[in-house]
Amino acid sequence: MPTEMKTRRTQSIGVFDSGFGGLSVLKEIVKALPEYDYVYLGDNARAPYGSRSKEVVYEFTKQAVDFLFTHGCDLVVLACNTASAEALRKIQREYLPKKYGPHKRVLGVIVPAIEETVVRTTNGRVGVIATQGTVRSGAFSRELNKASPGIQVFEQACPLLAPLVEAGEHRSKTADLMLARYLTPLLRKRIDTLVLGCTHYGHLEGKIRKIVGQNVAIISEGKIVAKKLQQYLVRHSELEGALARRSKLKFYSTDIGERFDDLGTIFFGAPVVSKKAKLG
Ligand code: DGL
Repeated sequence: MPTEMKTRRTQSIGVFDSGFGGLSVLKEIVKALPEYDYVYLGDNARAPYGSRSKEVVYEFTKQAVDFLFTHGCDLVVLACNTASAEALRKIQREYLPKKYGPHKRVLGVIVPAIEETVVRTTNGRVGVIATQGTVRSGAFSRELNKASPGIQVFEQACPLLAPLVEAGEHRSKTADLMLARYLTPLLRKRIDTLVLGCTHYGHLEGKIRKIVGQNVAIISEGKIVAKKLQQYLVRHSELEGALARRSKLKFYSTDIGERFDDLGTIFFGAPVVSKKAKLG
């Protein structure tokens, strides 16, 4: 029996983002669930996704999911709100059943963030900062209203933030200026909760906290997604039972390795050594 268990435990958990943003999620997942193996994929060569059309985001996300499935993952977390908003539902409802069947799963980051937001807000006034694509999709407003009818949601697209993080400018004065510009209108709406609806913004959380002060709750997806994934694995023992427990991490990027490794190491907070991925 133990040998049988060993041979079955071969799978890794896949984590995908358009670029560096998902590392803010992977970092928390690995902290919460260090025993498993992970494969991270950043499509840095084609980031940002936030300014692309829904059709393109769907195509790119499908390619990323295919890549992770063929690299030892039955379970993939889209650690990207834009992909979660614009591609996840179609992938779950159409693509997976048609191409793979029920043993392959793809999860997103928006529902976990929504569940946390509705319990955190006390005045029912919530700000969301996200990419243009995510704001255009209306996913946060729709899902927050479903979870808590009557909640007031103020969404702010921040097209310059993800590119800033991709460029490694997350600690710059420019980041301060951009954040002040995007956050001031939301603060005027008297929000008590702010959702960081783009995983890239997890890397800007310290700066965001300084601007919004201590009275606004910040919903940052890393820890929340990690907790929800843990609960998901408890509920899905058939998936959990196939996961390898060697604490191995593999990183892939569609961009050149050196740049990804240097910035990735800063964002992940531990050494990142990547291989080049070719999608599509
Ligand atoms: N990190 C992604 C998100 O959560 C996408 C940022 C981008 O590529 O524009 O939306």
